[in-house]
Formats: sequence, structure tokens, C-alpha cells
Amino acid sequence: MPTSTLTNAAELRRFVATNHTKPYPAIDPQEVRLPDGYVVCIIGGSGAAGSGLARSFAQAGASGIILAGRTQSALEATAKEARALNASTNVVTVSCDITSNDDVATLAATIREKFGGRLDTVVVNAGYSGPLSKATFLEEDPKDVEKAFGIHCLGTWYAAHHLVPLLLESKGSFIAISTMAAPMITGFGASSHYSASKVAQVRMMEMLHAQYSSQGLFCASVHPGGLQSDFSRAASMELQQHLTDSPDLVGSFCVWLTKPPNSAAQKKALNGRWISCKWDVLELEQQYERIQQDDLLRFRIAVE
Ligand SMILES: NC(=O)c1ccc[n+]([C@@H]2O[C@H](COP(=O)([O-])OP(=O)(O)OC[C@H]3O[C@@H](n4cnc5c(N)ncnc54)[C@H](OP(=O)(O)O)[C@@H]3O)[C@@H](O)[C@H]2O)c1
Repeated sequence: MPTSTLTNAAELRRFVATNHTKPYPAIDPQEVRLPDGYVVCIIGGSGAAGSGLARSFAQAGASGIILAGRTQSALEATAKEARALNASTNVVTVSCDITSNDDVATLAATIREKFGGRLDTVVVNAGYSGPLSKATFLEEDPKDVEKAFGIHCLGTWYAAHHLVPLLLESKGSFIAISTMAAPMITGFGASSHYSASKVAQVRMMEMLHAQYSSQGLFCASVHPGGLQSDFSRAASMELQQHLTDSPDLVGSFCVWLTKPPNSAAQKKALNGRWISCKWDVLELEQQYERIQQDDLLRFRIAVE
């Protein structure tokens, strides 16, 4: 019999009745005017979600976008798209492997040097999964396990350690791009290396909230939808045809989520929680009171 642990992902999907597949008027980044000097750093600043994020922050008028990742040519391709959408955005690419403490420290130093330390939002988008056809403990490749835990856990920790000091200056936002696989323990997308490392990442967002929200930090885990990408080629061909969400949906949603001045009610209700970019934000707003009252959208060990 399915238990509430097994059905958690399905229930989470339905938390808000309307799930979108592409941007819609309430989160249109072209309707947003980010404040002068606004700077966003996207780690994993290329590929599907990375380029959707860069396009959306450029459209919303970000003054600076730092795109970090390992492949310079891919970062440059994203930078070109962002510059084409907003010629006044200063787009900088930084070579950075998020699993290297030194690289992430250098990224923070580059932001200090090129943007005077101004940093409003960090999005940790870098992610990795091994093939989903090899998804059990006995089938998984130790190299995939090391890679996923390195990127999602160590990498997110390094990013928080080196970049939160800058975000505390701006009372900014730290966003981790999560996945619907985080609440899953079986089924499509649920391998121990992917799901468990993404759960640890969600927990880090909850702990950042516990430690720094009183100093003005906003943080959240955001599910980006199902996207066609190098990453999702780990899925079977049959399942790939269901990965049809626009990468601009997660980009537009993250602009909506982090743009100042967001209402205190929104910040209070969503801070430190797991949110899907597919959820209709007007319907989500209706849930703010319930989310806080029942402390929803967080991991905990059930006792009833
Ligand atoms: N695609 C989906 O359906 C889906 C569903 C749920 C969640 N997600 C999550 O969404 C995020 C983005 O996925 P995507 O589908 O857009 O993948 P993608 O197109 O393959 O992009 C992955 C990005 O992560 C970067 N990256 C990978 N390893 C890195 C490292 N060690 N250091 C720095 N950057 C690194 C890649 O750049 P380099 O390789 O050049 O470094 C690239 O910019 C991931 O966190 C993934 O878990 C995706």
C-alpha cells in the first residue's frame, strides 16, 4: 500500500492546482524593473535552466550577471543571448568548478573585484545525475555518486560559505535549483545519488534560513520543471518526451521570487522552503497563511 512517504512527490506536484509549462503574465520578467546595480550570479550558468535564468534576469534589467561553470564556450553562448536581450547588462563569465573550494573562493573574489562586492542573488543551478537506467545501489556507478554529492552537497556548501557574506550586505537571495526527485524514494528520477544529494541540498537551504533569515537573507529550493537538456539525457527516451517545460519558466519564476521589493508576506511565507516554479504564483499566494501555520514545504521526520 502506498504510504505518505511514497506519495509525497505526487502530493507536492498538486500543492497548487495550476501548474504552468511556460512563463505567464504574473511572472513576466519584462514587467519587472530590478533596482539599479542589481547583480545575480548563476553557478551552472549555461545549458537549459542556466540560460533560461540568464535570459530572464537580463530581461528584468539586471545590471550585472555572473555566469559560472566549467565550460567557457557554453557560458559565452549564454552570455551572448543575455546581452542580445539587454545590451546594458554587464555579463561576465567565470570559469568555476563548484566542487572546488578554491574555484568558488575565486568566484567570490571576482565578484568583489568586478562588481565592488555587490551581489543580490545567487542561483546554484549546477546539477548532475548518472543514467536513470542504473538507479539502484547495486547498479549505480561510484563515480556518479561522487559527482552528484560533490556538486549538490559540497558545491552548494562552498557557494553558501563564500557568497552568503556578500548576500548579507544586500539582504539578498540564495536559491538552489532542486528537483521533484528530492521527495522521491522510488520511481522515475529517484536514484540514491541524485535524490539523496538533492535532499541534503534542500536541508542546507533550511539551515541557511534558520541561521541568516534574521539578518535579511532569503533562500529557497526551486524545482525547475522538466527540461530537455544534456542533464536530462540520463532519462529514458520515452520519459524525455515528457520533459517539455520552457527553461524560461524557471528563469521568470526566480526573478519573481527574488526581485526587490517583494512583499514582507511573500518573503516570510516562502523563506527556507521548497517551491516548484511550475506552481501558479497567484494560487501560491493564497496558501501563504497555511504554509506558515502548518510549517509546510520542508523536510521533517514524521511522528504522526
Ligand atoms: N532537466 C530537467 O528536467 C531537470 C529536472 C529537475 C531538476 N533539474 C535540475 O536543474 C539544474 C539544471 O539542469 P539542466 O537540465 O539545465 O542541465 P544542463 O543543461 O545539463 O546544465 C547543467 C549546468 O550545470 C553546470 N555544471 C555541471 N557540473 C558543474 C560543476 N562541477 N561546476 C559548475 N557547474 C557545473 C553545467 O556547466 P558545465 O558542465 O560547463 O560546468 C551547466 O551549466 C540541475 O541542478 C538539475 O538537477 C533538471
